Amino acid sequence: MGLSALLCKSKTWIWGIFILTSSVLYLIYLQELRVGEQKTIHERKHLNGRSKQSKPIYRPDDTTQFIDTKNQTKIITLFNDEWGFFAKGTDRLFEKLRCPVSNCILTLEREKFFHGSDAVVFNIPPLVRSNQFQRYLLDLHSLRRNTKQRWVFYTHESPCFRGFAERWQEMYSFWQMGFNWTMTYRQDSDIPIQYGSIMRREKPMKRDFVDVAKRKSKLVAWFTSHCQTFSRREDYVKELQKYIPVDIYGTCGKLKCNTGLPKTSYYGPLNSECLQIVNNTYKFYLSFENAFATDYITEKYFNTVPLDVIAIVRGGANYSRLGISAFMYIDTRNFNSPQSLASYILSLDNNVTEYAKLLNWKNYYTGTSYLPSTRKHWCELCRKLHEDKSLSMRNDIQNWYNEDECRKPTDIGL
Ligand SMILES: *[C@@H]1O[C@H](CO)[C@@H](O)[C@H](O)[C@H]1NC(C)=O
Ligand SMILES: *[C@@H]1O[C@H](CO)[C@@H](O)[C@H](O)[C@H]1NC(C)=O
Ligand SMILES: *[C@@H]1O[C@H](CO)[C@@H](O)[C@H](O)[C@H]1NC(C)=O
Ligand SMILES: *[C@@H]1O[C@H](CO)[C@@H](O)[C@H](O)[C@H]1NC(C)=O
Ligand SMILES: *[C@@H]1O[C@H](CO)[C@@H](O)[C@H](O)[C@H]1NC(C)=O
Repeated sequence: MGLSALLCKSKTWIWGIFILTSSVLYLIYLQELRVGEQKTIHERKHLNGRSKQSKPIYRPDDTTQFIDTKNQTKIITLFNDEWGFFAKGTDRLFEKLRCPVSNCILTLEREKFFHGSDAVVFNIPPLVRSNQFQRYLLDLHSLRRNTKQRWVFYTHESPCFRGFAERWQEMYSFWQMGFNWTMTYRQDSDIPIQYGSIMRREKPMKRDFVDVAKRKSKLVAWFTSHCQTFSRREDYVKELQKYIPVDIYGTCGKLKCNTGLPKTSYYGPLNSECLQIVNNTYKFYLSFENAFATDYITEKYFNTVPLDVIAIVRGGANYSRLGISAFMYIDTRNFNSPQSLASYILSLDNNVTEYAKLLNWKNYYTGTSYLPSTRKHWCELCRKLHEDKSLSMRNDIQNWYNEDECRKPTDIGL
């Protein structure tokens, strides 16, 4: 090839590059205009609203950055974490949990990742209670959805949760938001949550629970922070107190102990003062749920499994369906009344060997209660995002979540 021909060719290149660069710049300019326009609409909408401090929910300009993802890291945006269980920013949760499929990240940086993430998880109870709830609803309803994205209905609380009742009307609009998956304590959720689990010990222990029983100086303990509940457990306890002593710790009682947590919840680490008191002092613990709801068994039960105490349960779940055998608890539903439960407790109190027999299973099993951020459902969410390619919509959430729930107690008088 001659020199002039080469020069001529390179000139074409230069022209090509010039034209290409200009078009790219022009496109970027157009894009900026569009984004600017969307931003203004967005901002204007909120200026009309009450909240001045509010940040936008999402930034429209990072749309395509993370979208699919042939086999890449899945981005999960946790829309809200008012209860502060997760690391701010980006949580390396899936590695910490040693998930079988761990190629996911969880982020709380909603404004940045919302649109581009593979899933957006809405933590329903605190969201509904938030004073921004109305604004979120407006924003979410007017959002142009990334159709590949899954919206996840995530709740640890039953529909009887106190904050819901006050907002029942607005919540209708909420159900219609177009969730794709459910992640709840209900075992028929797309991703079921368990508050804890029970494991068989590899090597059984050989503890003599008669000794343990002899050392116990008190009968029944109850920790509680909500004094009025759907299940009316407080009324059941009052009835019980007519026949046997029940020591009440927490906001609804006279006694206090240190949970090892800043909040009023009793997840407490096992070595916390509260759980140690139960372990050392009491024969029975009331694992009473705040509502009769399907599959709803909370830390109130799982906390007691590794402790030297017998749990007395009262709730709406079928415990054996969740892998909790009948010898692992006493169920109030097997007694006609608080009074007949009380006389059974008294008979066990009077017979150390009978009581010790009830503890004996703890030689073979142990258990644990998980913090929301350490539960395995996060692994399942990550796995599902990688493996489940199907489209799905849960338009039935309103009926599904509310059906057969918040049942009225039948074991106490009106
Ligand atoms: C995606 O990654 C998984 C392992 O993480 C591998 O088993 C699978 O074959 C990969 N799929 C594709 C399409 O590359
Ligand atoms: C409960 O108390 C016993 C002593 O009676 C102790 O051996 C055991 O480790 C305690 N359990 C827990 C979980 O702290
Ligand atoms: C609870 O579940 C078990 C199976 O897991 C079933 O056999 C039993 O009938 C159920 N009990 C009730 C009251 O539904
Ligand atoms: C305790 O119960 C056992 C049966 O498990 C019985 O043989 C024993 O007599 C009872 N002891 C007392 C003090 O009632
Ligand atoms: C999620 O639900 C929305 C609204 O119902 C729907 O448009 C979208 O296609 C669904 N996405 C997936 C991945 O299932």
